[in-house]
Formats: sequence, C-alpha cells, structure tokens
Amino acid sequence: MNPGFSGFETKSYPQLDDEPELVTWLLDTRTLWPGDNIWTAKGAAYAMGLISLEEQNAIASKMFIADARMSLGSALLKRLFISKALGISWTEVRLARKGNEKHGKPCAVDNYGRPISGIDFNVSHQNGLVSLIGWDGCDDVMVGTDIVCVNERETARQTIDEEGFDGWVDIYDAVFSLEERWSMKYDVDAVTLLDGTRLSAHEIGRNDRCIQPNQELTCTKKTGEEITFSSELLIDAKLRRFYTYFTLKEAYIKLAGEGLLAPWLKQLEFFNVRSPRPGTVARCSTHGTWGEEVDDAEVKLHGRHVNDVKMKVQAFEEDFMISCAIQGNIQGLKIPAFQKLHLDKDVLNIARDTLERKDSFMSPAEAIEQDLNKGNDKSPNKDTSDIDYFRSVADVESLLSPWESRYW
Ligand SMILES: CC(C)(COP(=O)(O)OP(=O)(O)OC[C@H]1O[C@@H](n2cnc3c(N)ncnc32)[C@H](O)[C@@H]1OP(=O)(O)O)[C@@H](O)C(=O)NCCC(=O)NCCS
Repeated sequence: MNPGFSGFETKSYPQLDDEPELVTWLLDTRTLWPGDNIWTAKGAAYAMGLISLEEQNAIASKMFIADARMSLGSALLKRLFISKALGISWTEVRLARKGNEKHGKPCAVDNYGRPISGIDFNVSHQNGLVSLIGWDGCDDVMVGTDIVCVNERETARQTIDEEGFDGWVDIYDAVFSLEERWSMKYDVDAVTLLDGTRLSAHEIGRNDRCIQPNQELTCTKKTGEEITFSSELLIDAKLRRFYTYFTLKEAYIKLAGEGLLAPWLKQLEFFNVRSPRPGTVARCSTHGTWGEEVDDAEVKLHGRHVNDVKMKVQAFEEDFMISCAIQGNIQGLKIPAFQKLHLDKDVLNIARDTLERKDSFMSPAEAIEQDLNKGNDKSPNKDTSDIDYFRSVADVESLLSPWESRYW
C-alpha cells in the first residue's frame, strides 16, 4: 500500500484473493499542532473533528500536549489504515480491543462489535514519533511495533555509575532470560569513537567483557594501529544494544496483545541481536534521517525456534529505534522500510475524501439501524452474500487471545 495514495477506492471487506499488503508508517508529531492546548493548537481542532468523541476525550485529558499530539497522531493513523484496508469511509471505522475492553490489543470491529478478520495493526508512540504496522491479507497474521528512544541515558547512567552495566541489566531480570542478559552485559556489536570511526566486535576483542564506566581500554585496529578509548563508549554501545533487545521483545508482546500480563516474557528469547547503525539527527534545515535496518534476529520460545515470525529494527535519527514483528503464514515476506507520512497529503486529504461520503460519526446502534433501513451491502440478512460476510468476520471467542490459542 502506498502511503502517498491520493484516491480512495471502495471495496468490500478483505477477500481471500486480495494481494496481502504490509505497511509500516511513521508520523512525526514533534512539529505538528503547535501550542499548549490540543483544542486551540493550530490545525488540531480539524484533526480532532475526524475522530470519535471517545478518542477526543482521551486525547484532551492528556496532561502534556506532546502526549496529546502522539495520541491524536495514533488515532489518525489507525483510522487511515483501517479505512484504506477495508475500503470503508473514515467515519465507518470502528475500533475496540480484543479480549479485554481496557487492556486488549486494539482492533477494527464491525457495526456489531465483532473483530474483523484479515487485517491486523499495531501502534507505538515515543518522544513525538508514532509508528503503525498494518497487515491487510489473510487471517491469522498478527503484527506489532514498538519505538524506543535511547536518549534516556541519564537514568541508566546513574545506575551504571553506581552498580556497573551488569547492575543496570539485572534490573530487568523479570523481562530477559539469563542468556539474553549475559549477552547484553558481555557482548558488543561495534563501538563508535568520538571521531566517528567504528571499531568492530573483532577489533574490540576481549574488551567486550568490560562492564565498568570510566576505564581506559586499548585495542588494535585492523590496520595494526593501537588505540585507547574510554569504556564510556563501550557502555553507550551496550546500552543501545540493550534497547534493541527491549524493543524487539516489546514488539513481539504487542503482536501477541498480551502486554504486561504475558507470563512467557522470559521464555521469549532473542538471539543474534545487533543494533542498527543510527541515522542523523534533525537539524534546523534538515529532516532527521533513517539509519540501518536489521532483520536477522532469531526468536525462541520455551527454547524452541519460532519459525513463522519476522522481526526488524530500523534506526531513525541518532536515538530512535523502531521495531516491527509479524507472525503467521508469511513465508518470503520482507518487512518494508518505514515510510514517513505527511499529515496533509497522506492523512488529512484521505480523510477529506471519505468525508464527502459520510459526514458524521454514528453510534453502532445508529449504524446498524441505517444498515437495515438503507440496505447497506455489508448489513447481514440482506442476501446470500451475508453468508460470506459472516464467514469473513471472525468469531469473537476465537479472537480473544490469538497468540495464546496458537501456542497454548
Ligand atoms: C500497551 C502496552 C502493551 C505497550 O505500551 P507502551 O510500550 O507503553 O506503549 P506504546 O507506545 O509502544 O504502545 C501504545 C499503543 O499500544 C497499543 N496497545 C494497547 N494495548 C495493547 C495490547 N494489549 N497489545 C498490543 N498493543 C496494545 C495501543 O494502540 C497503544 O496506542 P493508542 O493508545 O494510541 O492506541 C503496555 O500495556 C504493556 O503492557 N507494555 C509491556 C511493558 C513490558 O512488559 N515491557 C517489557 C518488555 S520488553
């Protein structure tokens, strides 16, 4: 799906013969809707008018406008994805949560509140960025995304200064396995020196075992040159690697929809983890740039390889890493690079197009009534296509915990 689409096609709910599509979108809200209050921030009221009252209230109740901006961005991206994937108008989009109405994974539902099968999406927000991964294809594929920002070094630094890098990693004892924590403490991908030179793991050699800050380390470069550097740089590289593990695990648990309640957090292990090289930070005259994409991490659950999952971490600017997880019947699929969306061109214009079709939000009861009265194609009990429609709408029970039903 091209995020730069300008038209809006109408189609029925996903059919089996539709080409599956995976989208990865990023909306940068840091410069959107300037002001102190989301209702009075320039341009925000229009965007708020495009989402439901419930979403508006949740956004307006945020204490900080930066959080309100991200939540508004999230609400817009979810609507954009669902309306595009289902070929329904912006105002027909309905959201609910699978399994638990407060803590379940957000999903698209029909007028009757039943999760719509064949699509899945997930959102993450952090420090002004909002990511969405969306799957529009066959059933039984699930997606997750997470954003981390590595600039929270100060919190980590204090612990590392007092207790060493191992002390920092061990705080996450409930989340990471022994083997993951060992690798985070004692392995390193590469170290970037102050002049920008990168030392490979091979060049760093056994210095990789260092877990204390403020040490002087010496190693020999490939060229034979001997160099000395501060272990601060090694710790920085290890911290970035720690956040890579963190965002991979978070994307997977978000795919599964289980959140903090996942009892298998420690049994889910990542191997062959490497941090993507950073991009460059946004300066006054330039946009931030994308960094490296790394997609060869391996996943094990209860010690067994999980073969039907693909993970990817992509760096953005110097400090962000955005991860994606997709699981299901996806052989040969490659997770595409994130596409940065433009609010007006890629989001609001699409909403405007759909508004010409419907101009207000309806409660589910109103929508059902309208379906029945006006003969909406998707309303049940109209003709034989109802049977197909009911087949395409997953049974609520079976979607209560998709991940669990797959593995437990
Ligand atoms: C929601 C949750 C799943 C992720 O929260 P988070 O990392 O703080 O927040 P993110 O910005 O990445 O994600 C927020 C989005 O997750 C989505 N979300 C909410 N509940 C979800 C669930 N059960 N499953 C998947 N996605 C969920 C929502 O779309 C939400 O955005 P929205 O409110 O704008 O729609 C959180 O409740 C949680 O349980 N986190 C796990 C924390 C943890 O154990 N971390 C250690 C593992 S590395």
